[in-house]
Amino acid sequence: MQIFLDTANIEEIKEISSLGILDGVTTNPSLIAKEKKDFKSTIKAICDIVKGPVSAEVIATDYEGMITEAEELVKISEYVVVKIPFTLDGLKATRYLSDKDIPVNMTLIFSPNQAVLACKAGARYISPFVGRLDDIGHDGMELAIQCQDIVDTYGYETEVIAASVRHPEHVLKIMENGIDIATLPHKVVMQMLKHPLTDIGIEKFLSDWKNANK
Ligand code: E4P
Repeated sequence: MQIFLDTANIEEIKEISSLGILDGVTTNPSLIAKEKKDFKSTIKAICDIVKGPVSAEVIATDYEGMITEAEELVKISEYVVVKIPFTLDGLKATRYLSDKDIPVNMTLIFSPNQAVLACKAGARYISPFVGRLDDIGHDGMELAIQCQDIVDTYGYETEVIAASVRHPEHVLKIMENGIDIATLPHKVVMQMLKHPLTDIGIEKFLSDWKNANK
């Protein structure tokens, strides 16, 4: 399973990258806005750290605008993946950019029908949003599983990014179902690291060692 970090925070990215477990980063306009820094230089800084796929999202909602922004974004770094929201214009833009070998992550996927269209348009990645579906009483993980089934059944070159991940239980389901990629908030990676029995075990080892060496 590939692990992406879902953040635009440079410190978080540096920390997780230093662990040697990071395959990529996803950002979105909300995450970028939260950092209150220049968009392009933030993306450049992230690419320089990660040296792997970094999703940067277009703001335009029309086909021409998306293409213009995408062509600017890929100039920032060879690692930029253009993130395009799933709309009719977004689909058209994805086909255009994919034909030019510009990798696209189609985002805001909320149904298997959207997923198959994104794959057919040549998206390099599709991002089903697990947590936001859970929030409205649907089974978000079911969608991510369906997306992976579509890709595997038809042999699309697209990879599935389980997005909008909220807790380690989501990560467990992503692994159990062989979903290609999980994009995780920093908090979830830290939760994955932790187990109370590990902490208790270390404490016990150290106190036994101390007592034996008095
Ligand atoms: C995916 O690429 C998005 O950035 C992200 O996972 C959205 O998650 P949220 O629902 O927690 O905002």
